[in-house]
Amino acid sequence: MTPTLRLVALAAGLALATGAQAQQAPIKIGLMLPATGTFAALGDMIEKGFKLYVQEQGGKLAGRELQYFRVDDESDPSKAIDNVGKLIKRDNVDVLVGTVHSGVALAMAKAAKESNTLLVIPNAGAGDITGPLCSANIVRSSFSNWQPGYAMGIVAGQKGVKRAMTITWNYAAGAETVKGFTEGLERGGGKVIKDLNLPFPGVEFQALLTEIASQKPDAVYAFFAGGAAVKFVKDYAAAGLSKTIPLYGPGFLTDGTIPAQGEAAQGLLTTSNYADNLDTPRNNAFRKSFALTYKANADVYAVQGYDAAQILAAGLNAVKGDLAKRDQMTSAMRKVVVDSPRGKFTISPAGNPVQDFYLREVKGNYNEFRSVAVKALADPARGCKM
Ligand code: BEZ
Repeated sequence: MTPTLRLVALAAGLALATGAQAQQAPIKIGLMLPATGTFAALGDMIEKGFKLYVQEQGGKLAGRELQYFRVDDESDPSKAIDNVGKLIKRDNVDVLVGTVHSGVALAMAKAAKESNTLLVIPNAGAGDITGPLCSANIVRSSFSNWQPGYAMGIVAGQKGVKRAMTITWNYAAGAETVKGFTEGLERGGGKVIKDLNLPFPGVEFQALLTEIASQKPDAVYAFFAGGAAVKFVKDYAAAGLSKTIPLYGPGFLTDGTIPAQGEAAQGLLTTSNYADNLDTPRNNAFRKSFALTYKANADVYAVQGYDAAQILAAGLNAVKGDLAKRDQMTSAMRKVVVDSPRGKFTISPAGNPVQDFYLREVKGNYNEFRSVAVKALADPARGCKM
C-alpha cells in the first residue's frame, strides 16, 4: 500500500470509529425541574412520567442509552440563567427538559435559542415561548397558559356567569391564564370585574378573600398550583366562600393536591388537557404502568413528562438516534401525532400542543371527566414567526 493510500485508509477507519462511538454514546438529557419549593411535587411527577416512557422502551430511545443530568431550579427565575448554563456549558447536554415555572422556562428558552440546544418543555405555559420566542429547537408537551384559562372562560359563560373575579400570582403564568379566562368569558357575554394578585410564591390570601366576599361576584377564577393550591382551596372554603361563590380554575388548582385539600376540593370544577378517569385503553394502560412502577397515582404532570419523552422519541426515531440530523429531527418532533394518555394530539407550527380541554369535577381523590369544554384548542401563537 502506498503512503497516500495508507493515510486514506487510516482516516476512513477513524471516521468509522468516531461514528460508531457517537452512535453508542448515551444521549445527555438535562432535567431542569423544581425539586424544592411550592412546585416540587410537580417536578417529581414530570420526571417520573418522562422516565416511565423511557423504561417502557427498554431504557433506550432510538436504540441509544440516556444519561441524566439534574438541576433543581427551585422555581426561581433569578437563578435560571445560572442553572441552565450548568446544563448547557458544564454538562454539555444534548437535550434540555424543563420546566414548571414560566419565568424560569423563559430563561431556558432564551438560552436554548442562543446555544441551539434542543428544549422540550413539559409544563411551563409561558405564551412567549411559542409566541415571539418560538424556535424550531423548542417544543412543548403541555399547554400554553392561555389554553386552560380560555376553556374555563367558555364554561363559565355557558353557566351564565356575568361578573367574575380572578385571583392568582403576579407573574407570566398568572397574567396569561387570566387573559385566556377573560377572553373565553367575554365570548359568553360575561366580564371580569376585578383581577387580584399576590407575589409568587406567596400564600397570604386572607385580605384578598375578604375583598372577594365584599364584591360578591358570580364566580371566582383562581390559578395556583402545588402546595399553594392546597392552601388556597382550603382557605377559600374556610372563609365560607365556597357556599355562595363558585370557584373555578385551570386544572392545576386540583391536580396532585386533592388528598391534601380534602373536603374543601370536593365538587370543584376545573379545565385541563387531562382527566384522571379518561376511560381509554391508552390512559388505563398508562395509569396501571405508572402505579406499578411508582406505587402512586399519575396526574397531569406525569402525563406531560411522559409525552415530553414521546415527542423526543419521535424526533430521535426519525433520525435513528443521530442527533446531528437536527433539521430532520426537529421537523419530526413537530409532525408527530402524540398518542397520549390525555388523547391524541398534534403540535402546532409554533411548537405547542393542539389538544382537547376537558371540564372535570373533583370526586373523591380524582379529577373526573365531565365533558369536552373545547375541542382541538390551539394557542393563538401571537408573534411567532418561524
Ligand atoms: C407556569 O408557571 O407556567 C405554571 C406553573 C404551574 C402550573 C401551571 C403552569
